[in-house]
Amino acid sequence: MKLLEQRIAKDCKVLPGNVLKVDMFLNHQIDIELINEIGKEFKRLFSDCDITKILTIEASGIGIACICAQYFSVPVLFAKKGVHKNIGNSFYTSTVYSYTKEKSYEIAVSKDYLSSDDRILIIDDFLANGQAVLGLKSIIEQAGASLEGVGVVIEKGFQSGGGLLREKGIRVESLAIIDQMQDKENLVFRH
Ligand code: G4P
Repeated sequence: MKLLEQRIAKDCKVLPGNVLKVDMFLNHQIDIELINEIGKEFKRLFSDCDITKILTIEASGIGIACICAQYFSVPVLFAKKGVHKNIGNSFYTSTVYSYTKEKSYEIAVSKDYLSSDDRILIIDDFLANGQAVLGLKSIIEQAGASLEGVGVVIEKGFQSGGGLLREKGIRVESLAIIDQMQDKENLVFRH
């Protein structure tokens, strides 16, 4: 998505450890006009899917998912993070390992809001190692719902997540894939 690539190139910061800072428009301060365009693009890409619900994960995914959901006219459901493993039997739970943070955390979604009739689109801001998406996929499977696809705003193409998910047959649509980011002046986008 050209508009997004231009915005990343203009405003991002590349931090040590392959971290792309985009919190001036995506995950701290949020540019709603841009997210509206992102929502329209996801709707176009997944127009062949009859989505019943958008699923995301705390925290940065929520705002983006809410804007996008307006174009699908479906509710947003977000997995809660940091819940206790024994949260009770009214929740689907899964364990997510974050390579970035080098620790695992639990995610949970109430059984009240996910059923076998649901056709789910996962939306998230970043795809790095893909572990958050795999955790959400497990929750979708526990509910007997179907995962129609994954919409990602920025995929770090040099990390393993995109390959891992696509190898599993998951449909992943990333609006910007960055293959190299040595520094801000030399971002390489995949086309
Ligand atoms: P994974 O789900 O793809 O395996 O991601 P990973 O554990 O490697 O990343 C941990 C967190 O860092 C995730 O947010 C992810 O979105 C975010 N992240 C990964 N790479 C970058 C990056 O280059 N720049 C930025 N800004 N974020 C990145 P989180 O901590 O789980 O969620 P949130 O609370 O920030 O939403």
